[in-house]
Amino acid sequence: MLQQFFGCANVVIKDEDIKRSNSIKKQCILFSKKCIFAARNNNNTVVPMNPIQMVDLRTQYLHIKEDIDAGIAEVLESTAFVKGGKVSDFQKHLEAFLDVKHVIPVGNGTDALQIALMALGLKPGDEVITPTFTFIATAEVVALLGLTPVVVDVDYETFCINPEAVEKAITPRTKAIVPVHLFGQNVNMEALLKIAKRHRLYVVEDACQSMGAVYTFSDGRKLHSGCMGEIGCTSFFPSKNLGCYGDGGALFTNDDNLAEQIRTIANHGMRIRYYHDVVGVNSRLDSIQAAVLDAKLPHLNDYIAARRRAADHYNKAFAACRQLVTPTTASYTTHSFHQYTVKTNGIDRDKVINRLAEKQIPAMIYYPVPLHLQKAYLDCRYQEGDFPVAEALSATVFSLPMHTELDVEQLNYISDNVLKAVAEQN
Ligand SMILES: Cc1ncc(COP(=O)(O)O)c(C=O)c1O
Repeated sequence: MLQQFFGCANVVIKDEDIKRSNSIKKQCILFSKKCIFAARNNNNTVVPMNPIQMVDLRTQYLHIKEDIDAGIAEVLESTAFVKGGKVSDFQKHLEAFLDVKHVIPVGNGTDALQIALMALGLKPGDEVITPTFTFIATAEVVALLGLTPVVVDVDYETFCINPEAVEKAITPRTKAIVPVHLFGQNVNMEALLKIAKRHRLYVVEDACQSMGAVYTFSDGRKLHSGCMGEIGCTSFFPSKNLGCYGDGGALFTNDDNLAEQIRTIANHGMRIRYYHDVVGVNSRLDSIQAAVLDAKLPHLNDYIAARRRAADHYNKAFAACRQLVTPTTASYTTHSFHQYTVKTNGIDRDKVINRLAEKQIPAMIYYPVPLHLQKAYLDCRYQEGDFPVAEALSATVFSLPMHTELDVEQLNYISDNVLKAVAEQN
């Protein structure tokens, strides 16, 4: 019977195995190579624990299957696979959610960043300031457009770009700043926007990881992540806070002229069919992805709340462990916990990650090498030691499973094993 439960015919579960595992709450027994866990529930009966993944998209899908399937079926019936009504529906719904004038859906987050810089009319040689501790896409598009990426250090507490470092890096050639709202919380935008205003610089927010995070300005105004600078960019990569089932992205702006320019660039530089006013690209969100996103959008706030609950659970579990520094949320922002990333202190991070892997717990390092030390971006301007905070973070951080479907059994299992793996090093 339990074998059926686990869907794994060669699994033999003996009661002694269960008794042998330590406490009732912590009973997690590996029954097969396929990583099937069991634990006792409150009635003391054995129940399977879902295998732990960095992101569990399947369980999330099963909860909203009806809506997703209906949305996709509608697109199939309509055969409007590109620029269908689903894309404009989703666009309008996202504009309302974010309270922003224009959402322009595109093919992915990297395209969004590239199109944003093109729309601002930046020219080769113009300098664009980005954090050195981020995903590569942020600097990649700057380099691809012949602009000069200028990287700066980040803040140890928030992992995000340090506004003071930005101001120091500004030169007469600086034209834009691309802050990255890393791991799900907003950059200190009030400080950054003041600097941008003082030096007449554009701000293109990389909000690929921070969909749903809200910033509160000192005058009480609240704005969504990605809706504070001239342009915001996001990604709908499946694992993102609002993810589709393939690639997708969008730009946000409150500026009508920029919105028009962005739409034109994303559509081969074309306003009137087959008349090309500017050099553009082909970047579109397809209708099936829009249907998925439109079905998921009404759940976004709940998804973020689930991520926060998981983060709270980890925070409490690790509070007394001096070898782990848990993530903080800055006073000016909410945190959407795209990632739950801890800093290690005086322990071998790789040993912890390997130990977790033995327990079928995935953990990832975001990001092991800061941009200024990446082979493709190494140039005579930067060397090791230039950005000590980012370098220290790259050497010490790791991220734990973080998604909307983590349950208490899984969270206990993960945090208990993290603490054990850390304790083994004492
Ligand atoms: C910070 C950041 N910027 C840009 C991107 C690029 O998004 P996409 O993968 O949709 O191109 C990502 C996606 O991982 C990201 O995390």
